[in-house]
Order: sequence, then C-alpha cells, then structure tokens
Amino acid sequence: MTAPIAIDFVETDLDALAGATGKVAILITPEGKLDPAGRRVNRLSKGAVARMLESQAWEKLKEGSTISLGYPAGMAAEAVIVLKLRRRPVAEQARKAGAALAGAKGAAALTIMAGSTAAIADLSLGLVLKSYRFTDHKSKPDDAPGGAVIHCTKPEAVAAEATAMMAVAEGVFFTRDLVNEPANVLTTDDFAARLAAMQDLGLDVEILEEDQLGELGMGALLGVGQGSDSPSKVVVMQWRGGGDEAPLALIGKGVVFDTGGVSLKPAAGMEDMTMDMGGAGVVAGVMRTLALRRARANVVGLIGLVENMPDGRAQRPGDVVKSMKGETIEVINTDAEGRLVLADVMWYAQDRFAPAAMVDLATLTGAIIIGLGHENAGVFSNNDDLADQFLKAAATEGEGAWRMPMGQAYDDMLKSRIADMKNVGGRAAGSITAAQFLGRFVKDDTPWIHLDIAGVASVKSETALAPKGATGWGVMALDRLVRDRFEG
Ligand code: BES
Ligand code: MN
Ligand code: ZN
Repeated sequence: MTAPIAIDFVETDLDALAGATGKVAILITPEGKLDPAGRRVNRLSKGAVARMLESQAWEKLKEGSTISLGYPAGMAAEAVIVLKLRRRPVAEQARKAGAALAGAKGAAALTIMAGSTAAIADLSLGLVLKSYRFTDHKSKPDDAPGGAVIHCTKPEAVAAEATAMMAVAEGVFFTRDLVNEPANVLTTDDFAARLAAMQDLGLDVEILEEDQLGELGMGALLGVGQGSDSPSKVVVMQWRGGGDEAPLALIGKGVVFDTGGVSLKPAAGMEDMTMDMGGAGVVAGVMRTLALRRARANVVGLIGLVENMPDGRAQRPGDVVKSMKGETIEVINTDAEGRLVLADVMWYAQDRFAPAAMVDLATLTGAIIIGLGHENAGVFSNNDDLADQFLKAAATEGEGAWRMPMGQAYDDMLKSRIADMKNVGGRAAGSITAAQFLGRFVKDDTPWIHLDIAGVASVKSETALAPKGATGWGVMALDRLVRDRFEG
C-alpha cells in the first residue's frame, strides 16, 4: 500500500530554525500578526517576512494559501513557506491549509512552526492526504516525498489526535490504490487477496466463489461475469466492535473492468473503466479504517467482484436472468451491469445479516456525471433520517453529496414484457431509474442509501485533498456516519 508521509510532533524549538534543512513553514494570521517563530524567521532572514507582509501578493493571498520566499539569507532552508491562517480554523479550513502546504513543499522535507494554532491534527491530515502519489508502476519513481516535523504546543496531545486521523488516511490511501490500479493487476483474484490480507487487522474476511454463488441463486451477478476468464466472487468483511446489535451493511460495486460486455462501450475513454470497482474500493477503505481505529460498532462490508467482458460465453442483450431474490430480469443492455451485481449482493446482505441500515456505493451511471459533475455524489434513499445524517456527515468531512429524488413513476419505466423487470429504463433520468432498480432489492423495513459515485471516485484534475486520479471519496463521510450514528 502507498505509505502516508511521516509526520512528527515536537515541542516548539525556535533555535532549530536557522539550521533546519528542506523547507520551513510559518503561519501568519490574516491580520499579519507574527508569532515568535515568525519573528525569529524575520530576524534570521533580515526582514524578508516583514517585506512580504507589505506586498500586494500578501494582501491578495486567500486564507489557507501560501507564499514561498526562496533561499532566505541566514537560514539553511531552501525556502520559507508562509501560510495565511487564522489562529482557530475549523477542521475543514485546517485540512485545506495542510493540503496547501503539501503543494508548496513538493518533495522537500518540511518543518512547520504551528505554535498554538488550533486544529493542527486536521492540518496534518490534509497534508498527508494531498501528498498521496501512486507510483507503483513507475520504473523510475521520483524520490518519496519528505515528511514533516510539526513544532507546536502540547505535541503529545496533538500527536494522539493525529494518530486517530491516520486510520482515516490509511483507509483513504487503500481505496485510492485500489481505484488507481489497472485491471490486469487488480483482477478479481488479486482484489480478493488484498481484502483477505486485512484479516491481520482483526477483520473477519470470507470469499464466496462461483459455485457457492450459484447455489445461493445469484444469477444476476453471475451473468455479468460469465464472459470473463476471471472468476466472479463475493467478499464479506465483518468488523464486530459493537455489542450484539444488528450491523450497518456497506455494499460495493466491484466491476474490476467494464467493457460494457456485448453492448460494448466506445474505445475513447474506455480505459477509465478500471475505476468501475470504485464502490468496492470505498467499502474496503472504510473497513480498513474501522479496524485500524478499533471502532465500537458492528459493520459488515460486502462487495461483488466481476469483470464485464464480451466473449463467446458472455451474456447477450435480451437474456433473462434470475436474481437471488427470485425475480427475473431482462438484460436489455449488458452495460447496465453494476445494478445486476448489486441486486444480488444487497439481497444476500439482508438475507444473512438483517442489517440495521444498508448503504451501497457504485460507479453506477454516466448520467450522474451529467447531472452533478465531479463535485457531488448522488444520494438516493428510502429513509429521510438516514439520508439527512449521511448528508451531514459528508458536509462535515467536505465530501460533496446531493440528494436525488425517487418515485413510482420512475420505477414504472423498468417494466418488461417478458420478465419481472428490465435492467434499463431508457435515456431519461438514467441515474434515478438505476436507483429504482436497486430499490426493488431492498426489503421494506431496511433503511437504505444508494450512493452513485461515478463522478467523484476518480477525477482528471486535483481536488481539495487529492491529486489527479482516485480520490477516496466517501471513506471519511462513512467513517463519520459510523461514529455519529452507530458508535455509543
Ligand atoms: N460503469 C458505468 C458507469 C460509469 C460511466 C462510471 C462513466 C464511471 C464513469 C456503468 O456500468 C454503465 O455503463 N452505465 C451505463 C448505463 C446505461 C447502459 C443504462 C451508462 O451510464 O451509460
Ligand atoms: Mn457498464
Ligand atoms: Zn459499470
């Protein structure tokens, strides 16, 4: 797994400033008030900081952003980074400020003079998250980015808080690695093996193979994978940190590659479909975080692993398959495969665990990108309380999420002439009819959320806390939901 950069917390030592190598960061409030470290750097650099404070660049600088002063006189450091930040930032401001430092520091080692500024653990989380780089397939990778030493008051207390946050960072990195990994490496077998390795963290991991899935009657899921040489699987990960209450179930779409099947996708952009296991990736990342921080809750993660390929044995448009629920589905379009996988995994989850609530995540529809772009995931739910709690958790963690409507008229679009339903509803409201399809596999009394993450799982430009590529969207929001709703 990609390792987070190292962060150390130490008691403030102004005398270390002159000799610190790499880069040195000082924090200055928007009012331009220098703390002792700022004054010391100003003195060492013969007034460079004071001159900078007189500049237009400082005046125009947004809070949470940085200015770099290169090769300062009187210091060993190659640059002084000035971060404009108030003394008491809220968590999200602190994380974004940490991300700005990640950009300014580049590969250098960083000494941060944080003084008594609040939310320094959050700042370090932002720094770590934004420093992520996926270099596994570079034969000559750049040197690993240097770590950071943070000088602050009460370093032990900040370090303890930061350690808890690093469980979140590790979960996010695990998700990002999975989503970034190409499909010839991350096969269904390889994915399952990476999850099985999490047994060492105290998770109970089971892998259900094709013959078992057949016995369970998962005809919808198996139909999707039948054109691939990689075997279809369902992986069940249990974290039992609570009492004997019913668990929260997290269900992920794990299509390791989506060619569209016989309803083949166009060549342009098809390579992006290595991320079609993004929902499964988020479930895996959340389970990792929960185990690392030994969450006091019962959570079960279930993912359906398949590859959607065209082949002599592949499913055809017009085929009718039978789901584990017993209802039949006419497969109008083999490219609407994610819902077929989820239908069976969701049914199995309810059948076996009778969960207190169920959240599924899937890179399900291109239509959600048309609707919400790359800023928000689509949130669909049969339960206003649960949906509101999730939206609040996502807002707290700075992960965009937007509620979408559902309703009978959309559901009617799934009627089939020859089977119980068809797997597509037509061009209109494509994300909603996909959600309606999933809703048919939710038992009446199960509070449920469907998250369509097609627009947010992997993006082509950097985001607040992630470089280009996989974002890990959802790990922090779901970890927050577990904390707020499922832990004592
Ligand atoms: N995996 C795709 C959805 C997707 C598109 C994810 C773009 C990420 C980026 C999904 O399996 C799919 O192909 N959906 C079809 C559904 C249609 C055939 C009803 C789509 O969105 O075009
Ligand atoms: Mn598809
Ligand atoms: Zn897909």
